[in-house]
Amino acid sequence: MSSCPFLALSERLRLTGRKKPIPLTQSAKAFFQLLQSEKEAPTIAASRIQQAQAQITKSGTYQLTLPELTYGCRLAWRNSVRCVGRFFWSKLDVLDQRHASTEEDIYHGCLQHLKHATHHGDIRSTVTVFPPADSKGRGPRIWNYQLSRYAGYRINKKQILGDPAEADFTDLCLHLGWIPPKKRTPFDLLPIVISLPEKKPRLFPPPKKVTQEVSIRHPDSPCLNSLRLRWVALPVVSNMKLEIGGISFPAAPFSGWYMETEIGTRNFADENRYNLLPDVARRLRLDTSRPSTLWKDRALVELNRAVLHSFQKAGVRIIDHHSASASHLRFEQDESKKGRSVRGLWDWLIPPLSGSTSPLWNRSYDPTEYSPNFLTQKSPY
Ligand code: ARG
Repeated sequence: MSSCPFLALSERLRLTGRKKPIPLTQSAKAFFQLLQSEKEAPTIAASRIQQAQAQITKSGTYQLTLPELTYGCRLAWRNSVRCVGRFFWSKLDVLDQRHASTEEDIYHGCLQHLKHATHHGDIRSTVTVFPPADSKGRGPRIWNYQLSRYAGYRINKKQILGDPAEADFTDLCLHLGWIPPKKRTPFDLLPIVISLPEKKPRLFPPPKKVTQEVSIRHPDSPCLNSLRLRWVALPVVSNMKLEIGGISFPAAPFSGWYMETEIGTRNFADENRYNLLPDVARRLRLDTSRPSTLWKDRALVELNRAVLHSFQKAGVRIIDHHSASASHLRFEQDESKKGRSVRGLWDWLIPPLSGSTSPLWNRSYDPTEYSPNFLTQKSPY
């Protein structure tokens, strides 16, 4: 890519559809220019770009200051096309763990993240940044999809106890020597697997002490309580890489608070997850003899009500899908007032329950991803 001064800044920050990697000096420059163009950003001296370029020439890379890193993480959230919770992008806590050097350090950083972000239910949006990748793209990795997830044990070819989405990762943990609880349940927390470049992965105990969980009860149909459902209070996605100014952080777990449909609609009701709709419908005595009784839809609503009710009663922050959609609309309006456009992935932004009631339903979105961002990366296993 040329460093043509007339190329729009947004074009230089575009990540989607790039064939060749962007030279680090150019990514750094574009990042600093982006900060210089935003009122809310930390002040960047004119000499900062040359300073970073000199550092790159000398050592192959450069270091972000803490204010740059913090604002960069917030921009990565703001640019996340899948996230409906971006109204709060400027209120992200950044825990700087770039000095972590051993697997133990990273594990303790993860526990610290869970404690800080959970905050006894008064959840704080948080990202923890571990050391960046080197010039060959190698850096620390957290092998878990999320820091707190439930095991999926294979019982036979067809049946899984627990979360089927975690069956492969559970196999891996068992292979690495994990000893699961004597009495296995559908809600056993998984261990954390961490690797450093060129080293074998290491297994650390499930983060039990710092994982708050919520028992799911229905507000007025106690017949659902005997399902003994529970879920973690905090979703900490730990398998994506954070990219800021050309620097990659392959271990940068981040978390906000839940929207109830993530649990009640997808985790509990998807056929390839806990697949609970038939059980719920039976307990609610719904007529399941044919699809046209809409028993699935009715069971789904009750499951989602139970999730919202239980989190609220437990004092754990959660948002319903109507409020989340409304907040995204406000985010879009705020951004447009500042002359910035919002990109998005429509099928991610629309809630998976009563989609057409969302004010986002009849809008369309440009899915292009810009830097900084949280990106998918190759699974280490
Ligand atoms: N959908 C995922 C889950 O159910 C969590 C993804 C992140 N969600 C969030 N609200 N920050 O666990």
